Amino acid sequence: MIYMMHVHKHIQIFDTTLRDGEQTPGVSLKTEDKLLIARQLDKLGVDIIEAGFPISSKGEKKSVKSVVNAGLHAKICGLARVNKPDIDACLDCNVDIVHTFIPTSDIQIQYTIEKSKEEVLQLAVDAVEYIKEQGLECLFSAMDATRTNTDYLLRIYKEVEKAGADKINVPDTVGITHPSAMKELIKNIYNTVKVPIDVHCHNDFGLAVANSLAAVEAGARQVQVAVNSLGERAGNADLAETVMSLHSIYKLRTNIQTKYLVETSRLVERLSGIQIPPNTPIVGDNAFSHESGIHTHGVLMRADTFEPGVMTPEMVGHVRRIVAGKHAGKHAVKQMLNSAGLNPTDGQLAEIMQRIKDLGDKGKRVTDADLYTIAEVILGEVAKGEQAIVLEEVSVMTGNKITPTASIKALVNGKPKIGAQTGVGPVDAALCAVQTILGEDTSIKLRDFKIEAITGGSDALAEVIIGVEDKKGNIVTARAAREDIVMASVEALVSAINRLMIKKR
Ligand code: KIV
Ligand code: ZN
Repeated sequence: MIYMMHVHKHIQIFDTTLRDGEQTPGVSLKTEDKLLIARQLDKLGVDIIEAGFPISSKGEKKSVKSVVNAGLHAKICGLARVNKPDIDACLDCNVDIVHTFIPTSDIQIQYTIEKSKEEVLQLAVDAVEYIKEQGLECLFSAMDATRTNTDYLLRIYKEVEKAGADKINVPDTVGITHPSAMKELIKNIYNTVKVPIDVHCHNDFGLAVANSLAAVEAGARQVQVAVNSLGERAGNADLAETVMSLHSIYKLRTNIQTKYLVETSRLVERLSGIQIPPNTPIVGDNAFSHESGIHTHGVLMRADTFEPGVMTPEMVGHVRRIVAGKHAGKHAVKQMLNSAGLNPTDGQLAEIMQRIKDLGDKGKRVTDADLYTIAEVILGEVAKGEQAIVLEEVSVMTGNKITPTASIKALVNGKPKIGAQTGVGPVDAALCAVQTILGEDTSIKLRDFKIEAITGGSDALAEVIIGVEDKKGNIVTARAAREDIVMASVEALVSAINRLMIKKR
């Protein structure tokens, strides 16, 4: 049971993806991209969108204006230092809220603004008064609050409250605090001011979400978050993690339509160019994926055996995936194949499992595409007894000083045959060698040859699709998938010829 004395049942979500998030090293968003993200955040249901820092550039101002003019439900906020030009730039954009900030810790006051503490206090008060005179909502941040002397911090918050601030923000600017310290600090502030408390936590120690939740436990009414945890250095508290913890663990409410969380994350991933790791909570590819036999077996029986249960993939717009891999169980693989309309026999399933495990043992991640391709190849293979050509050995020599040469050993209609051929490359040589072992009546013409890497990396699984035509104009297509392109090509060709033979019979 979480001890929650001052907890507000409804927590406001302030999204800073377009402001602090855009300060992620290497990220810069065009106006159109910012607008797309803002629309998505609005669809998601965030209460406030911090659209940018209008004074910072012409383009930034244009972006903030375009978000303001987009007619969204969310309130739009602009960032400003405690000076008139910054605040006026926000006013020019017609924002609903001005978020004004000034450093308050000794280290930042001394080295970044070189003012006395009294001057800092006065600047803060003046800025808040100016914003209020313009009739705008004012959010005040004491930057580096968690490293600020507590008495001084409380004094500043009290003074800006008196000056008319509508909300005060407590930034953990360098992500240095921890949940119990944050709880203590927020409790202190809660007992000092009446205005709602907001928190802005950075993730330098991976504690941004935990610290935000601790703040909520102590009475914070609003949390600042960013999609995909974007933000300065290690980023800000992640939107999805914070919201889902509030909903599913704390049983609190927000206005977020959680079913759009994955969609939102994907959009921001694409537009920001910052890819999230597959094991990212909630929105990562693996967040609801299961591979090992024990887990998949459990999950197929009842999902919450190996998932939280209070959070399902459907709730966040994700899908549960059973992943084929070296730890996969037969039941799970069979179920995956059946649901894709593929019904292997026990023997075929055993062969599919073997190939999956072989790939896994080589350190490869087996994708769904890999599994289905492997299965289609095995299901499409002509039963051994019916094969006109049974491949026994393939060897290929190639290099910069020799002509690519391939030799093939196979049974053709039950008779051992050996063939060798040169080619322009190893694949060409191997395909020509296969054709040398065919009798006159089985001569074929290669019509189609397509090769695709269906997984990434130099050890990718290659899929080869080959179309062949016999003398009578019968055309057959077959495919094979292997990590070895030459082997995949030869297998595809042999498979196509075997099917042609069967067709003929
Ligand atoms: O991290 C921080 O302190 C900030 C402020 C502008 C709130 O981003
Ligand atoms: Zn920040």
